[in-house]
Amino acid sequence: MALKATNPTTTNAWKKLQAHFETIKSQHLKDLFKSDASRANDLTVQWEDFYVDFSKNRITTETINLLVELANELDLKDAISKYFEGDIINATEGRAVLHTALRAPKDASVFVDGENVIPGIHEVKTKIEKFTNSVVSGEHTGYTGKAITDIVNIGIGGSDLGPAMIVDSLQYYKNHLNTHFVSNVDGDHYQEVIKNLNPETTLFVVVSKTFTTQETLSNANSIRTWFLESQPKEAVSKHFVAVSTNIESVKNFGIDEENIFPMKDWVGGRFSLWSAVGLSISLAVGYTHFESLLNGAHKMDEHFKTADFNANIPVISALLTIWYNNFFKAESEAIIPYTQYLNQFATYLQQGIMESNGKSVDRDGKPVNYQTGTLIWGEPGTNSQHAFFQLIHQGTKLIPTDFIGYVESLHGNKDHHNKLMSNYFAQTEALMNGKTEAEVLSELKAQSLGEDAISKLLPFKVFEGNKPTTSLLIQKLTPESLGKLIAMYEHKIFVQGIIWNIFSYDQFGVELGKQLAKSILNELNNDAKSAVHDGSTQNLLSFFKENC
Ligand code: F6P
Repeated sequence: MALKATNPTTTNAWKKLQAHFETIKSQHLKDLFKSDASRANDLTVQWEDFYVDFSKNRITTETINLLVELANELDLKDAISKYFEGDIINATEGRAVLHTALRAPKDASVFVDGENVIPGIHEVKTKIEKFTNSVVSGEHTGYTGKAITDIVNIGIGGSDLGPAMIVDSLQYYKNHLNTHFVSNVDGDHYQEVIKNLNPETTLFVVVSKTFTTQETLSNANSIRTWFLESQPKEAVSKHFVAVSTNIESVKNFGIDEENIFPMKDWVGGRFSLWSAVGLSISLAVGYTHFESLLNGAHKMDEHFKTADFNANIPVISALLTIWYNNFFKAESEAIIPYTQYLNQFATYLQQGIMESNGKSVDRDGKPVNYQTGTLIWGEPGTNSQHAFFQLIHQGTKLIPTDFIGYVESLHGNKDHHNKLMSNYFAQTEALMNGKTEAEVLSELKAQSLGEDAISKLLPFKVFEGNKPTTSLLIQKLTPESLGKLIAMYEHKIFVQGIIWNIFSYDQFGVELGKQLAKSILNELNNDAKSAVHDGSTQNLLSFFKENC
């Protein structure tokens, strides 16, 4: 059944939120804490190894109640059932959206076109497990009998970002296999990756849901040509495997059927790391850790499905985005993990969130008259504190920020971990409290500055504060807790799409550029003139051609 389609701004809850916003917008977080002693506890959700503190947001419990009222009025509960049960909620592409089924247990049942998809999912998982074990153990060798030492994942977008982010994030859990990623069609990318590789000991995993993506096919072809410069044709089957829905095209590329790890079209590219797209993850960290990652995501799925909305981490988190985006008119959100391991996390989420919710037409096909998808950005703390935090503290823009921290560090260096975490705690406190004129004044006086110098410096040293943050404090970075964290953001994306009345699971916006690039490539390669360009593009093309 189709998702309902209601303009959120026409709901009663929206009107109440608008009125409520007028009472909240000029209140300072410091005062909200002063006036409500139980605020920190009331606005915190503890679940499994997650402690999520929403209290440093510009909200009260009434805000949460009203946002939940909005979710209820828009029938979020019904939409969640449709999402998990395999309804065609990706209506513009006529598909179900079932990344949640990929982490469901063996005895679950989820039906697509009358067929339970769970047994098929577990068949592919068994294939991943067997293959992983044989490569990791050295039983699967290269053509010349040598054990595999290096894995190269060739893919782009969801066929790269998820696996690359996870392999980087879980490097503490990695085995002896070196894992590399080739994504950009920039030939320098693959050349740099292969330059130190031995074709005899390298396994290439070509990942493309459609197997039509220019970047991936170009890289796979060039790498195969390089491989065949030193290896015979028969060696390909020992060194090239593929992940795709498009079995025929993979076979035409020259990859044997038994080396194909299939996936289904109801797995969206940006949600595909749980499917066979995660093969490189499994190879890098071993199947048991891959399974734990999936189990973690499944636990978050259960939390999301069953917890009351006002104690539901992804639901509250999504509703806060609506609050800031549509009422405070904040345009972006920062995600700052206090662990170097999550270095690629924000980049990964940029695709997940911005490709999903960067839409301006509602589910009835009409232009929306309100803001949708937010800009997502971030880098790990503490590095980001020395880069862009100035703007979050003292700039003119409101930037709600997620702080992700861990109670335990993986290598256990207490000295460093306490330094890291003291910054994690200090930043959210500083962003909330700011520094008043009186505080700055007494600091400057203590430095024995003259009155003139003090009055000149004072305005620049004042921090307004009142900058909203959410603190996610997780026990430890493990495959399972990472699975939970990613699934949390996936469900947040879903809830936002439901509230904004948009379709989150297509990505037509990336097509136009691809089409134009195809015809321009023809002009570059064949000197043909296939299109009339604007003056700027024409000049750029001419300059390029004349000088290359
Ligand atoms: O950029 C659009 C997109 O379709 C993404 O959604 C997808 O993750 C990526 O291209 C790669 O697609 P494929 O896995 O089919 O090569």
